[in-house]
Amino acid sequence: MCGIVGYVGPQAAAPLLLETLQKLEYRGYDSSGICVIHQGAIQVAKARGRLRVLQELTRNGQSLPGSIGIGHTRWATHGEPSDVNSHPHLSQSGQVAVVHNGIVENYLELRDFLSEKGYTFASETDTEIAAQLIDHCYHGDPVQAVREAVSLLTGSFALGILFRDHPDQIIAVRKDSPLIVGLGKGENFIASDIPALLKHTRDILRLDEYELAVIRQDGVQVFDRYGDPVEKEVQHVDWDPGAAEKGGYAHFMLKEIMEQAEVLRDTLRPRIKDGAICLDLKHITPEDLRACDRIYIVACGSASHVGHVARYYIEKLTRVPVFVELASEFRYMDPPVTPHTLTIVISQSGETLDTLFALREAKARGSKVLSIVNVVGSSIANESQDVIYTWAGPEIAVATTKAYSAQVAICYLVALYMAQCRGTLPETRLQEDLAALSGLPELASRALQAQDHIQYLASLYFGCKDIFFIGRNVDWAIALEGSLKLKEISYIHSEAYAAGELKHGTISLVEPGTLVVALCTYGPLQEKMISNIREVKARGAIVLALAPEGTPLVEETADHVMYIPRANPLLNPSLAIIPLQLFAYYVALLKGCDIDKPRNLAKSVTVE
Ligand code: AGP
Repeated sequence: MCGIVGYVGPQAAAPLLLETLQKLEYRGYDSSGICVIHQGAIQVAKARGRLRVLQELTRNGQSLPGSIGIGHTRWATHGEPSDVNSHPHLSQSGQVAVVHNGIVENYLELRDFLSEKGYTFASETDTEIAAQLIDHCYHGDPVQAVREAVSLLTGSFALGILFRDHPDQIIAVRKDSPLIVGLGKGENFIASDIPALLKHTRDILRLDEYELAVIRQDGVQVFDRYGDPVEKEVQHVDWDPGAAEKGGYAHFMLKEIMEQAEVLRDTLRPRIKDGAICLDLKHITPEDLRACDRIYIVACGSASHVGHVARYYIEKLTRVPVFVELASEFRYMDPPVTPHTLTIVISQSGETLDTLFALREAKARGSKVLSIVNVVGSSIANESQDVIYTWAGPEIAVATTKAYSAQVAICYLVALYMAQCRGTLPETRLQEDLAALSGLPELASRALQAQDHIQYLASLYFGCKDIFFIGRNVDWAIALEGSLKLKEISYIHSEAYAAGELKHGTISLVEPGTLVVALCTYGPLQEKMISNIREVKARGAIVLALAPEGTPLVEETADHVMYIPRANPLLNPSLAIIPLQLFAYYVALLKGCDIDKPRNLAKSVTVE
């Protein structure tokens, strides 16, 4: 996510903007910028790279005099990390400067509209479109201009806006992306998040949907979406800076687990428009997908588990054989890749060396490469023919959660799109599945509400030495991820097994008290899972099942059940992973582990 700050008051704005931006560095970013109003002009300084670059560029803010300004740390979504794509973005008249957090979904249509009005664009960003649009709507009244422009935007946005001709005020407005106002003594602030403000004030106003604030040195006015004044409750924040960075959660991992509904919305919504799938592929054509006779999904760790989930859907919908291979193996297995092979590379960081080398191996053998990546402009993204970004925002915890879920969601879309291109999917089924996907964020929110129950279950079993995860079909793929989540942060030995495999050896490991997590979301094989539950219980296992709401047979057989909302089976993997993430988190918490930075692990494995 990007970071926004703003200041108006008696102090020099630029140094203060730089200092408050530093407090948002934890959010992850690839460029930064500030602007101030001074002597009737908006002066901008921005650069790719760390804040240090901006500090050097502006001599710690000394080169930008002025007592009002806005600042930004950018996590690229549209447009590579670069100086010109950094925020703030200035309208071509020099009248309007904008910093933005979120995604303007209709920026291409707006860009065409503004081009016809004579606007030209310096950057590739959706944010610059917003700046030019506000400029276009400006006829002397900043509030009216912003309200009119915002009414034309679709997507998510938190905007901090300066008007050259109104050097006494910052305009702030939000939809979906958070934005707060900090109330100081004779000075006021805006920020994306509380940590930026704690040094200056603990009294804040949280803007609600479509609320617009006019922030001046001597006061703040807030208006609702209809332009009526709103009396906002002043909240006093008593978090310490560490808790504030985690949004009040104890760990980044829990924060990121709880962000998943929002991440799924940000990932899916711009790609499902009026019943059509918009993947925006630039080089891999529908003809390529029709000619494809084999798919490799290549990744490491959790990303490879996404591949195992995706495989079931891609094969079922397209009838193309899918091979999920660990990147570290793929490189050395002399894979039978041809120009009719599509290789899908999945990576949160986009820098995992094993995965990057596997990508190169696939390309060298003539395969087209489509990557699914979270970090814009990363090596894997840059070396792929096409990349679909997950827009999950920076993932700080080493154990991936929200990026995993976003990757799974993108894979659903890839499966549906490919099937549509190949004519193997009736339009009615496509629309049914797209409608189901559109409802996924809300269902994920509901699945997250089981937090307390999962915490209770973790309290019963955090002392276990071995925990087995079993499942059939796509439940086995989910079990892989549930097991990895648990072992990488709690250090408890855990294995994931295809439930049908138990009798081929594994069941010898089951003894009285062994905890078995049985995934039972895949309806067609639920009865077989019931048999497997009975098998392990007969040997003394304790069974913690996971099933959709309203599955009495599972409840009668297992010792405990973690429920997920009943939904279109397409969505079960995305829903089932949530209780498993929470279970791993609370087990590790009870064991006192270093949850965000587990021993021996790195967030991005850039070595072989
Ligand atoms: C996931 O919790 C792990 N941190 C790890 O397995 C990770 O998924 C793997 O290293 C791949 O990383 P990437 O997605 O950045 O390529």
